[in-house]
Amino acid sequence: MAYETLILGAGAAGMMCATRSGPGTLVIDHAKAPGEKIRISGGGRCNFTNMYASPENYLSQNPHFCKSAMARYTQWDFIELVDRHGIAWHEKTLGQLFCDGSAKQIVAMLVEEMKTAGADLWLQTSVTSVTHTADGFRVEVEREGKPQVLTARNLVIATGGKSIPKMGATGLAYDLARQFDLPLTDTRPGLVPFTFSEDRFKPLAGVALPARLSNERTSFDEALLFTHRGLSGPSVLQLSSYWREGEQISVNLIPETPVFDLLRSQRQEAGRKALTTELARHLPGRLVDFLAPKFDLKGRLADQSDAALRDLCDRLENWRLTPSGSEGYRTAEVTLGGIDTDALSSQTMETKTIPGLYAIGEAVDVTGWLGGYNFQWAWASGVAAGSAI
Ligand code: FDA
Repeated sequence: MAYETLILGAGAAGMMCATRSGPGTLVIDHAKAPGEKIRISGGGRCNFTNMYASPENYLSQNPHFCKSAMARYTQWDFIELVDRHGIAWHEKTLGQLFCDGSAKQIVAMLVEEMKTAGADLWLQTSVTSVTHTADGFRVEVEREGKPQVLTARNLVIATGGKSIPKMGATGLAYDLARQFDLPLTDTRPGLVPFTFSEDRFKPLAGVALPARLSNERTSFDEALLFTHRGLSGPSVLQLSSYWREGEQISVNLIPETPVFDLLRSQRQEAGRKALTTELARHLPGRLVDFLAPKFDLKGRLADQSDAALRDLCDRLENWRLTPSGSEGYRTAEVTLGGIDTDALSSQTMETKTIPGLYAIGEAVDVTGWLGGYNFQWAWASGVAAGSAI
């Protein structure tokens, strides 16, 4: 069967691309349903964009690459689309926009837009081989157990990254990149919890508090969550994208509270109070119990000199930890790295070396922060390619 455009992957980027590339487009996916990651995202409510999305919120070997596509399809364009479909939404925090109802509304919206544009969708279809021909591309697929041959002038790689293989993630984008001699940057799990050896934080599992997590390159002020296996929560996921194996991180447990001043004034007013009792007013009690032997938290407030209180606050502001690793692709929300942006036009996402071959979404070396940024990249890069086709 001959098509104008074949899009491999009915995820966020592939479906968005199909809403623009229009009639003569076929979207292929091996999953049972389109947009599975959209469906489970944001706890089932899909954090579909961020009001403050800008190129500074993305990691890439070339930080300028995403600028063009993001300027031409912004968060406001996507919000307009969502509004047009009557999908109610709200801002949760830090500009993160979620559906009031269900993430399934975003999937249904994209499927409807694809249909309106005249694109077809084949699910449960696996790709057996891809060949570059004189007229474009020849793709062998297996659908419902039967082999089929498809041809197209354009081929769009939109099969995403390696995160969460259980949800259908494969390395197809990277295999195709290698086949077509497109350069790849190193891939790593991103937006992923840290693990620590010997169940170090097991007694704290479930404790959450606002914190500032930093390394030498960056820092994030968001919630921190202790888990059976280590550290999670938004501040940890954010920092994980900037972390390398073996690196130390710094945790500020009291980023907003002037604890030194508060301890000093309490020493004046209630000197007989135990230090741990006073600290438990500013930090979760279980965390204070956990830290007590490590930070030598003992005695009454009246026993603490200014120097001792300063020293304690310094330790609470700069708790140095070295994760033993991360939870890896099993739970990572994204894959950092991928198809090198040097291989692509930033205007159209077409490869520079093979006319008609495009790459979009998470398959490309552009990765957003936590908070709706990754979907915004999927929408913007999908529109850039779809409009150019
Ligand atoms: P995506 O992964 O969406 O789609 C790729 C498609 O290709 C899939 O449908 C897959 O089945 C298909 N495919 C893969 N290999 C194939 C093969 N060999 N043959 C055929 N088909 C194949 N981002 C955000 O901005 N806000 C959020 O709230 C969240 N939440 C979130 C939660 C969880 C649990 C995860 C794992 C991720 C998020 N994300 C997110 C990240 C976001 O989901 C991600 O960045 C985008 O889905 C990427 O869109 P793509 O279309 O590039 O890939």
